[in-house]
Amino acid sequence: MNTDAPIAPGSEPPARSATMRASVARRYGTADVLTVEEVPVPTAGKKEVLVRVEASSLNALDWHFLTGTPYPLRLMSGLRRPKRIVRGADVAGTVVAVGAKVTRFQPGDEVFGECDAGGGCAPFMVVNEEHVVAKPPGVGFDVAGATPVAGLTAVQGLRNKAQLQPGEQVLINGAAGGVGTFAVQVAKAMGATVTAVCSTRNVEMVRSAGADEVIDYTVDDFVDGGRRFDVMMDNVGNRTPAECLSVLNPGARYLAVSGPKENPWIDPIPHLARTALKFLRADATFLQYTAKPNHDDLTYLGQLLSDGHLVPVVDRVVGLEGVADGLAEIGTGHAKAKIVVMPHR
Ligand SMILES: NC(=O)c1ccc[n+]([C@@H]2O[C@H](COP(=O)([O-])OP(=O)(O)OC[C@H]3O[C@@H](n4cnc5c(N)ncnc54)[C@H](OP(=O)(O)O)[C@@H]3O)[C@@H](O)[C@H]2O)c1
Repeated sequence: MNTDAPIAPGSEPPARSATMRASVARRYGTADVLTVEEVPVPTAGKKEVLVRVEASSLNALDWHFLTGTPYPLRLMSGLRRPKRIVRGADVAGTVVAVGAKVTRFQPGDEVFGECDAGGGCAPFMVVNEEHVVAKPPGVGFDVAGATPVAGLTAVQGLRNKAQLQPGEQVLINGAAGGVGTFAVQVAKAMGATVTAVCSTRNVEMVRSAGADEVIDYTVDDFVDGGRRFDVMMDNVGNRTPAECLSVLNPGARYLAVSGPKENPWIDPIPHLARTALKFLRADATFLQYTAKPNHDDLTYLGQLLSDGHLVPVVDRVVGLEGVADGLAEIGTGHAKAKIVVMPHR
């Protein structure tokens, strides 16, 4: 069966034995373990929907699943080799089949959402029905597919965890990446004033995303500027949380999005205790979280996309052959905004 042929909404799903061309990694490693090859089309489990993927996008999350790092991740992703061989946590597409216990969707529904374990760098993927929502009609698949992981990280950090208020001052370290370009726009949509940190080549891009002020980290260090903030979102971790206290107002919230560059596992308890004590003394709150897909937050993102408050910043759109280069770029720690994957290209 030719899985590249368009499947009209509501039409028959691919046969159980059908195969598809996908970007595949059968072992942990860097981007050179990725190949494009023929694999079986997955079958939806009881609570899963099978989606014809119109767009996915690449995230640091996919890099972690590709390399199997940090190692505790392998407890979930597979100890010796990845259980799921296709990367791509983000998905936007059309439901073509549903599992026996799916209640929310039916074939023909256009959806977007996230499956951490991946699958989006292929023409079809399965995803739990709790982790996708209806795609707003006016929002393109490319736009919706660029959004879930990075958008949820921004919303769950700034809105749910930090409870950002209109008029507050926000500092976003690592504003030029996937999460950062969403965070700048989400913070602006929530009425905050945004200061963004990125390198020279990304200053204009971050400014056009809506940042009120931009600190070029190749010229200035954000901890030296004398400015203070109510919320800091740290997508980089190049400074310790304790060092970041110097830019926080009393009552501020610090969002640790990335892991720290220093290694806290050498002495985890003294390290955490020292950090907690310093935050307590400074009357600041240390917040750590792992973003997870849910209907409420995905619906909120859909609304922002629909209203035009959120426009994903896309560096480029690639087909399956471009996945390896894209993930290699993310692995350098200097990817620019989003790389969208269109598997049927
Ligand atoms: N907690 C969670 O739930 C969660 C969710 C998603 C992601 N994450 C983590 O958050 C981090 C960011 O994710 P992402 O998807 O945005 O990554 P990304 O798309 O790869 O972006 C990384 C960005 O960091 C910037 N950067 C590198 N060094 C910097 C520095 N010294 N100062 C300021 N910016 C710097 C780079 O910009 P330049 O090229 O300008 O240097 C690049 O744009 C990753 O560590 C990821 O694992 C956590």
